[in-house]
Amino acid sequence: MTEPHVPVMLEEFLEHFSKLKIKTFYDGTLGAAGHAKALLESHPEIETYYGCDQDANALEIAKAKLEPWKDKVVYLHDNFVHLDKHLEDVESVDGFFLTWGCRQCS
Ligand SMILES: C[S@@+](CC[C@H](N)C(=O)[O-])C[C@H]1O[C@@H](n2cnc3c(N)ncnc32)[C@H](O)[C@@H]1O
Repeated sequence: MTEPHVPVMLEEFLEHFSKLKIKTFYDGTLGAAGHAKALLESHPEIETYYGCDQDANALEIAKAKLEPWKDKVVYLHDNFVHLDKHLEDVESVDGFFLTWGCRQCS
């Protein structure tokens, strides 16, 4: 399966969260999970990573890539506008991320 998405500004993304201890993270545009994989590698303290994407193909790619973290990732096949429902039982998140603009998706 070819990857339809690329993790833009990956270094800046990691730098932004580098000093935080992250327990719970919400990624509203999981895509092919490039950002997710990098963050999970850099932050082994993450307990729950919510990965949302409206594209089922992207989620399949993400699931394969994030297999080593399968016990931490909650996959949501949905539009992130429904994040209030996705997080209704969650007290807080330590990080939140949305991305657009890779050439393949715009
Ligand atoms: C630039 S790609 C994401 C790249 C991803 N972070 C990665 O590392 O591979 C954008 C993704 O956002 C998803 N997307 C765009 N609008 C969305 C929305 N409103 N709700 C959920 N997913 C959305 C697209 O399906 C696409 O997979």
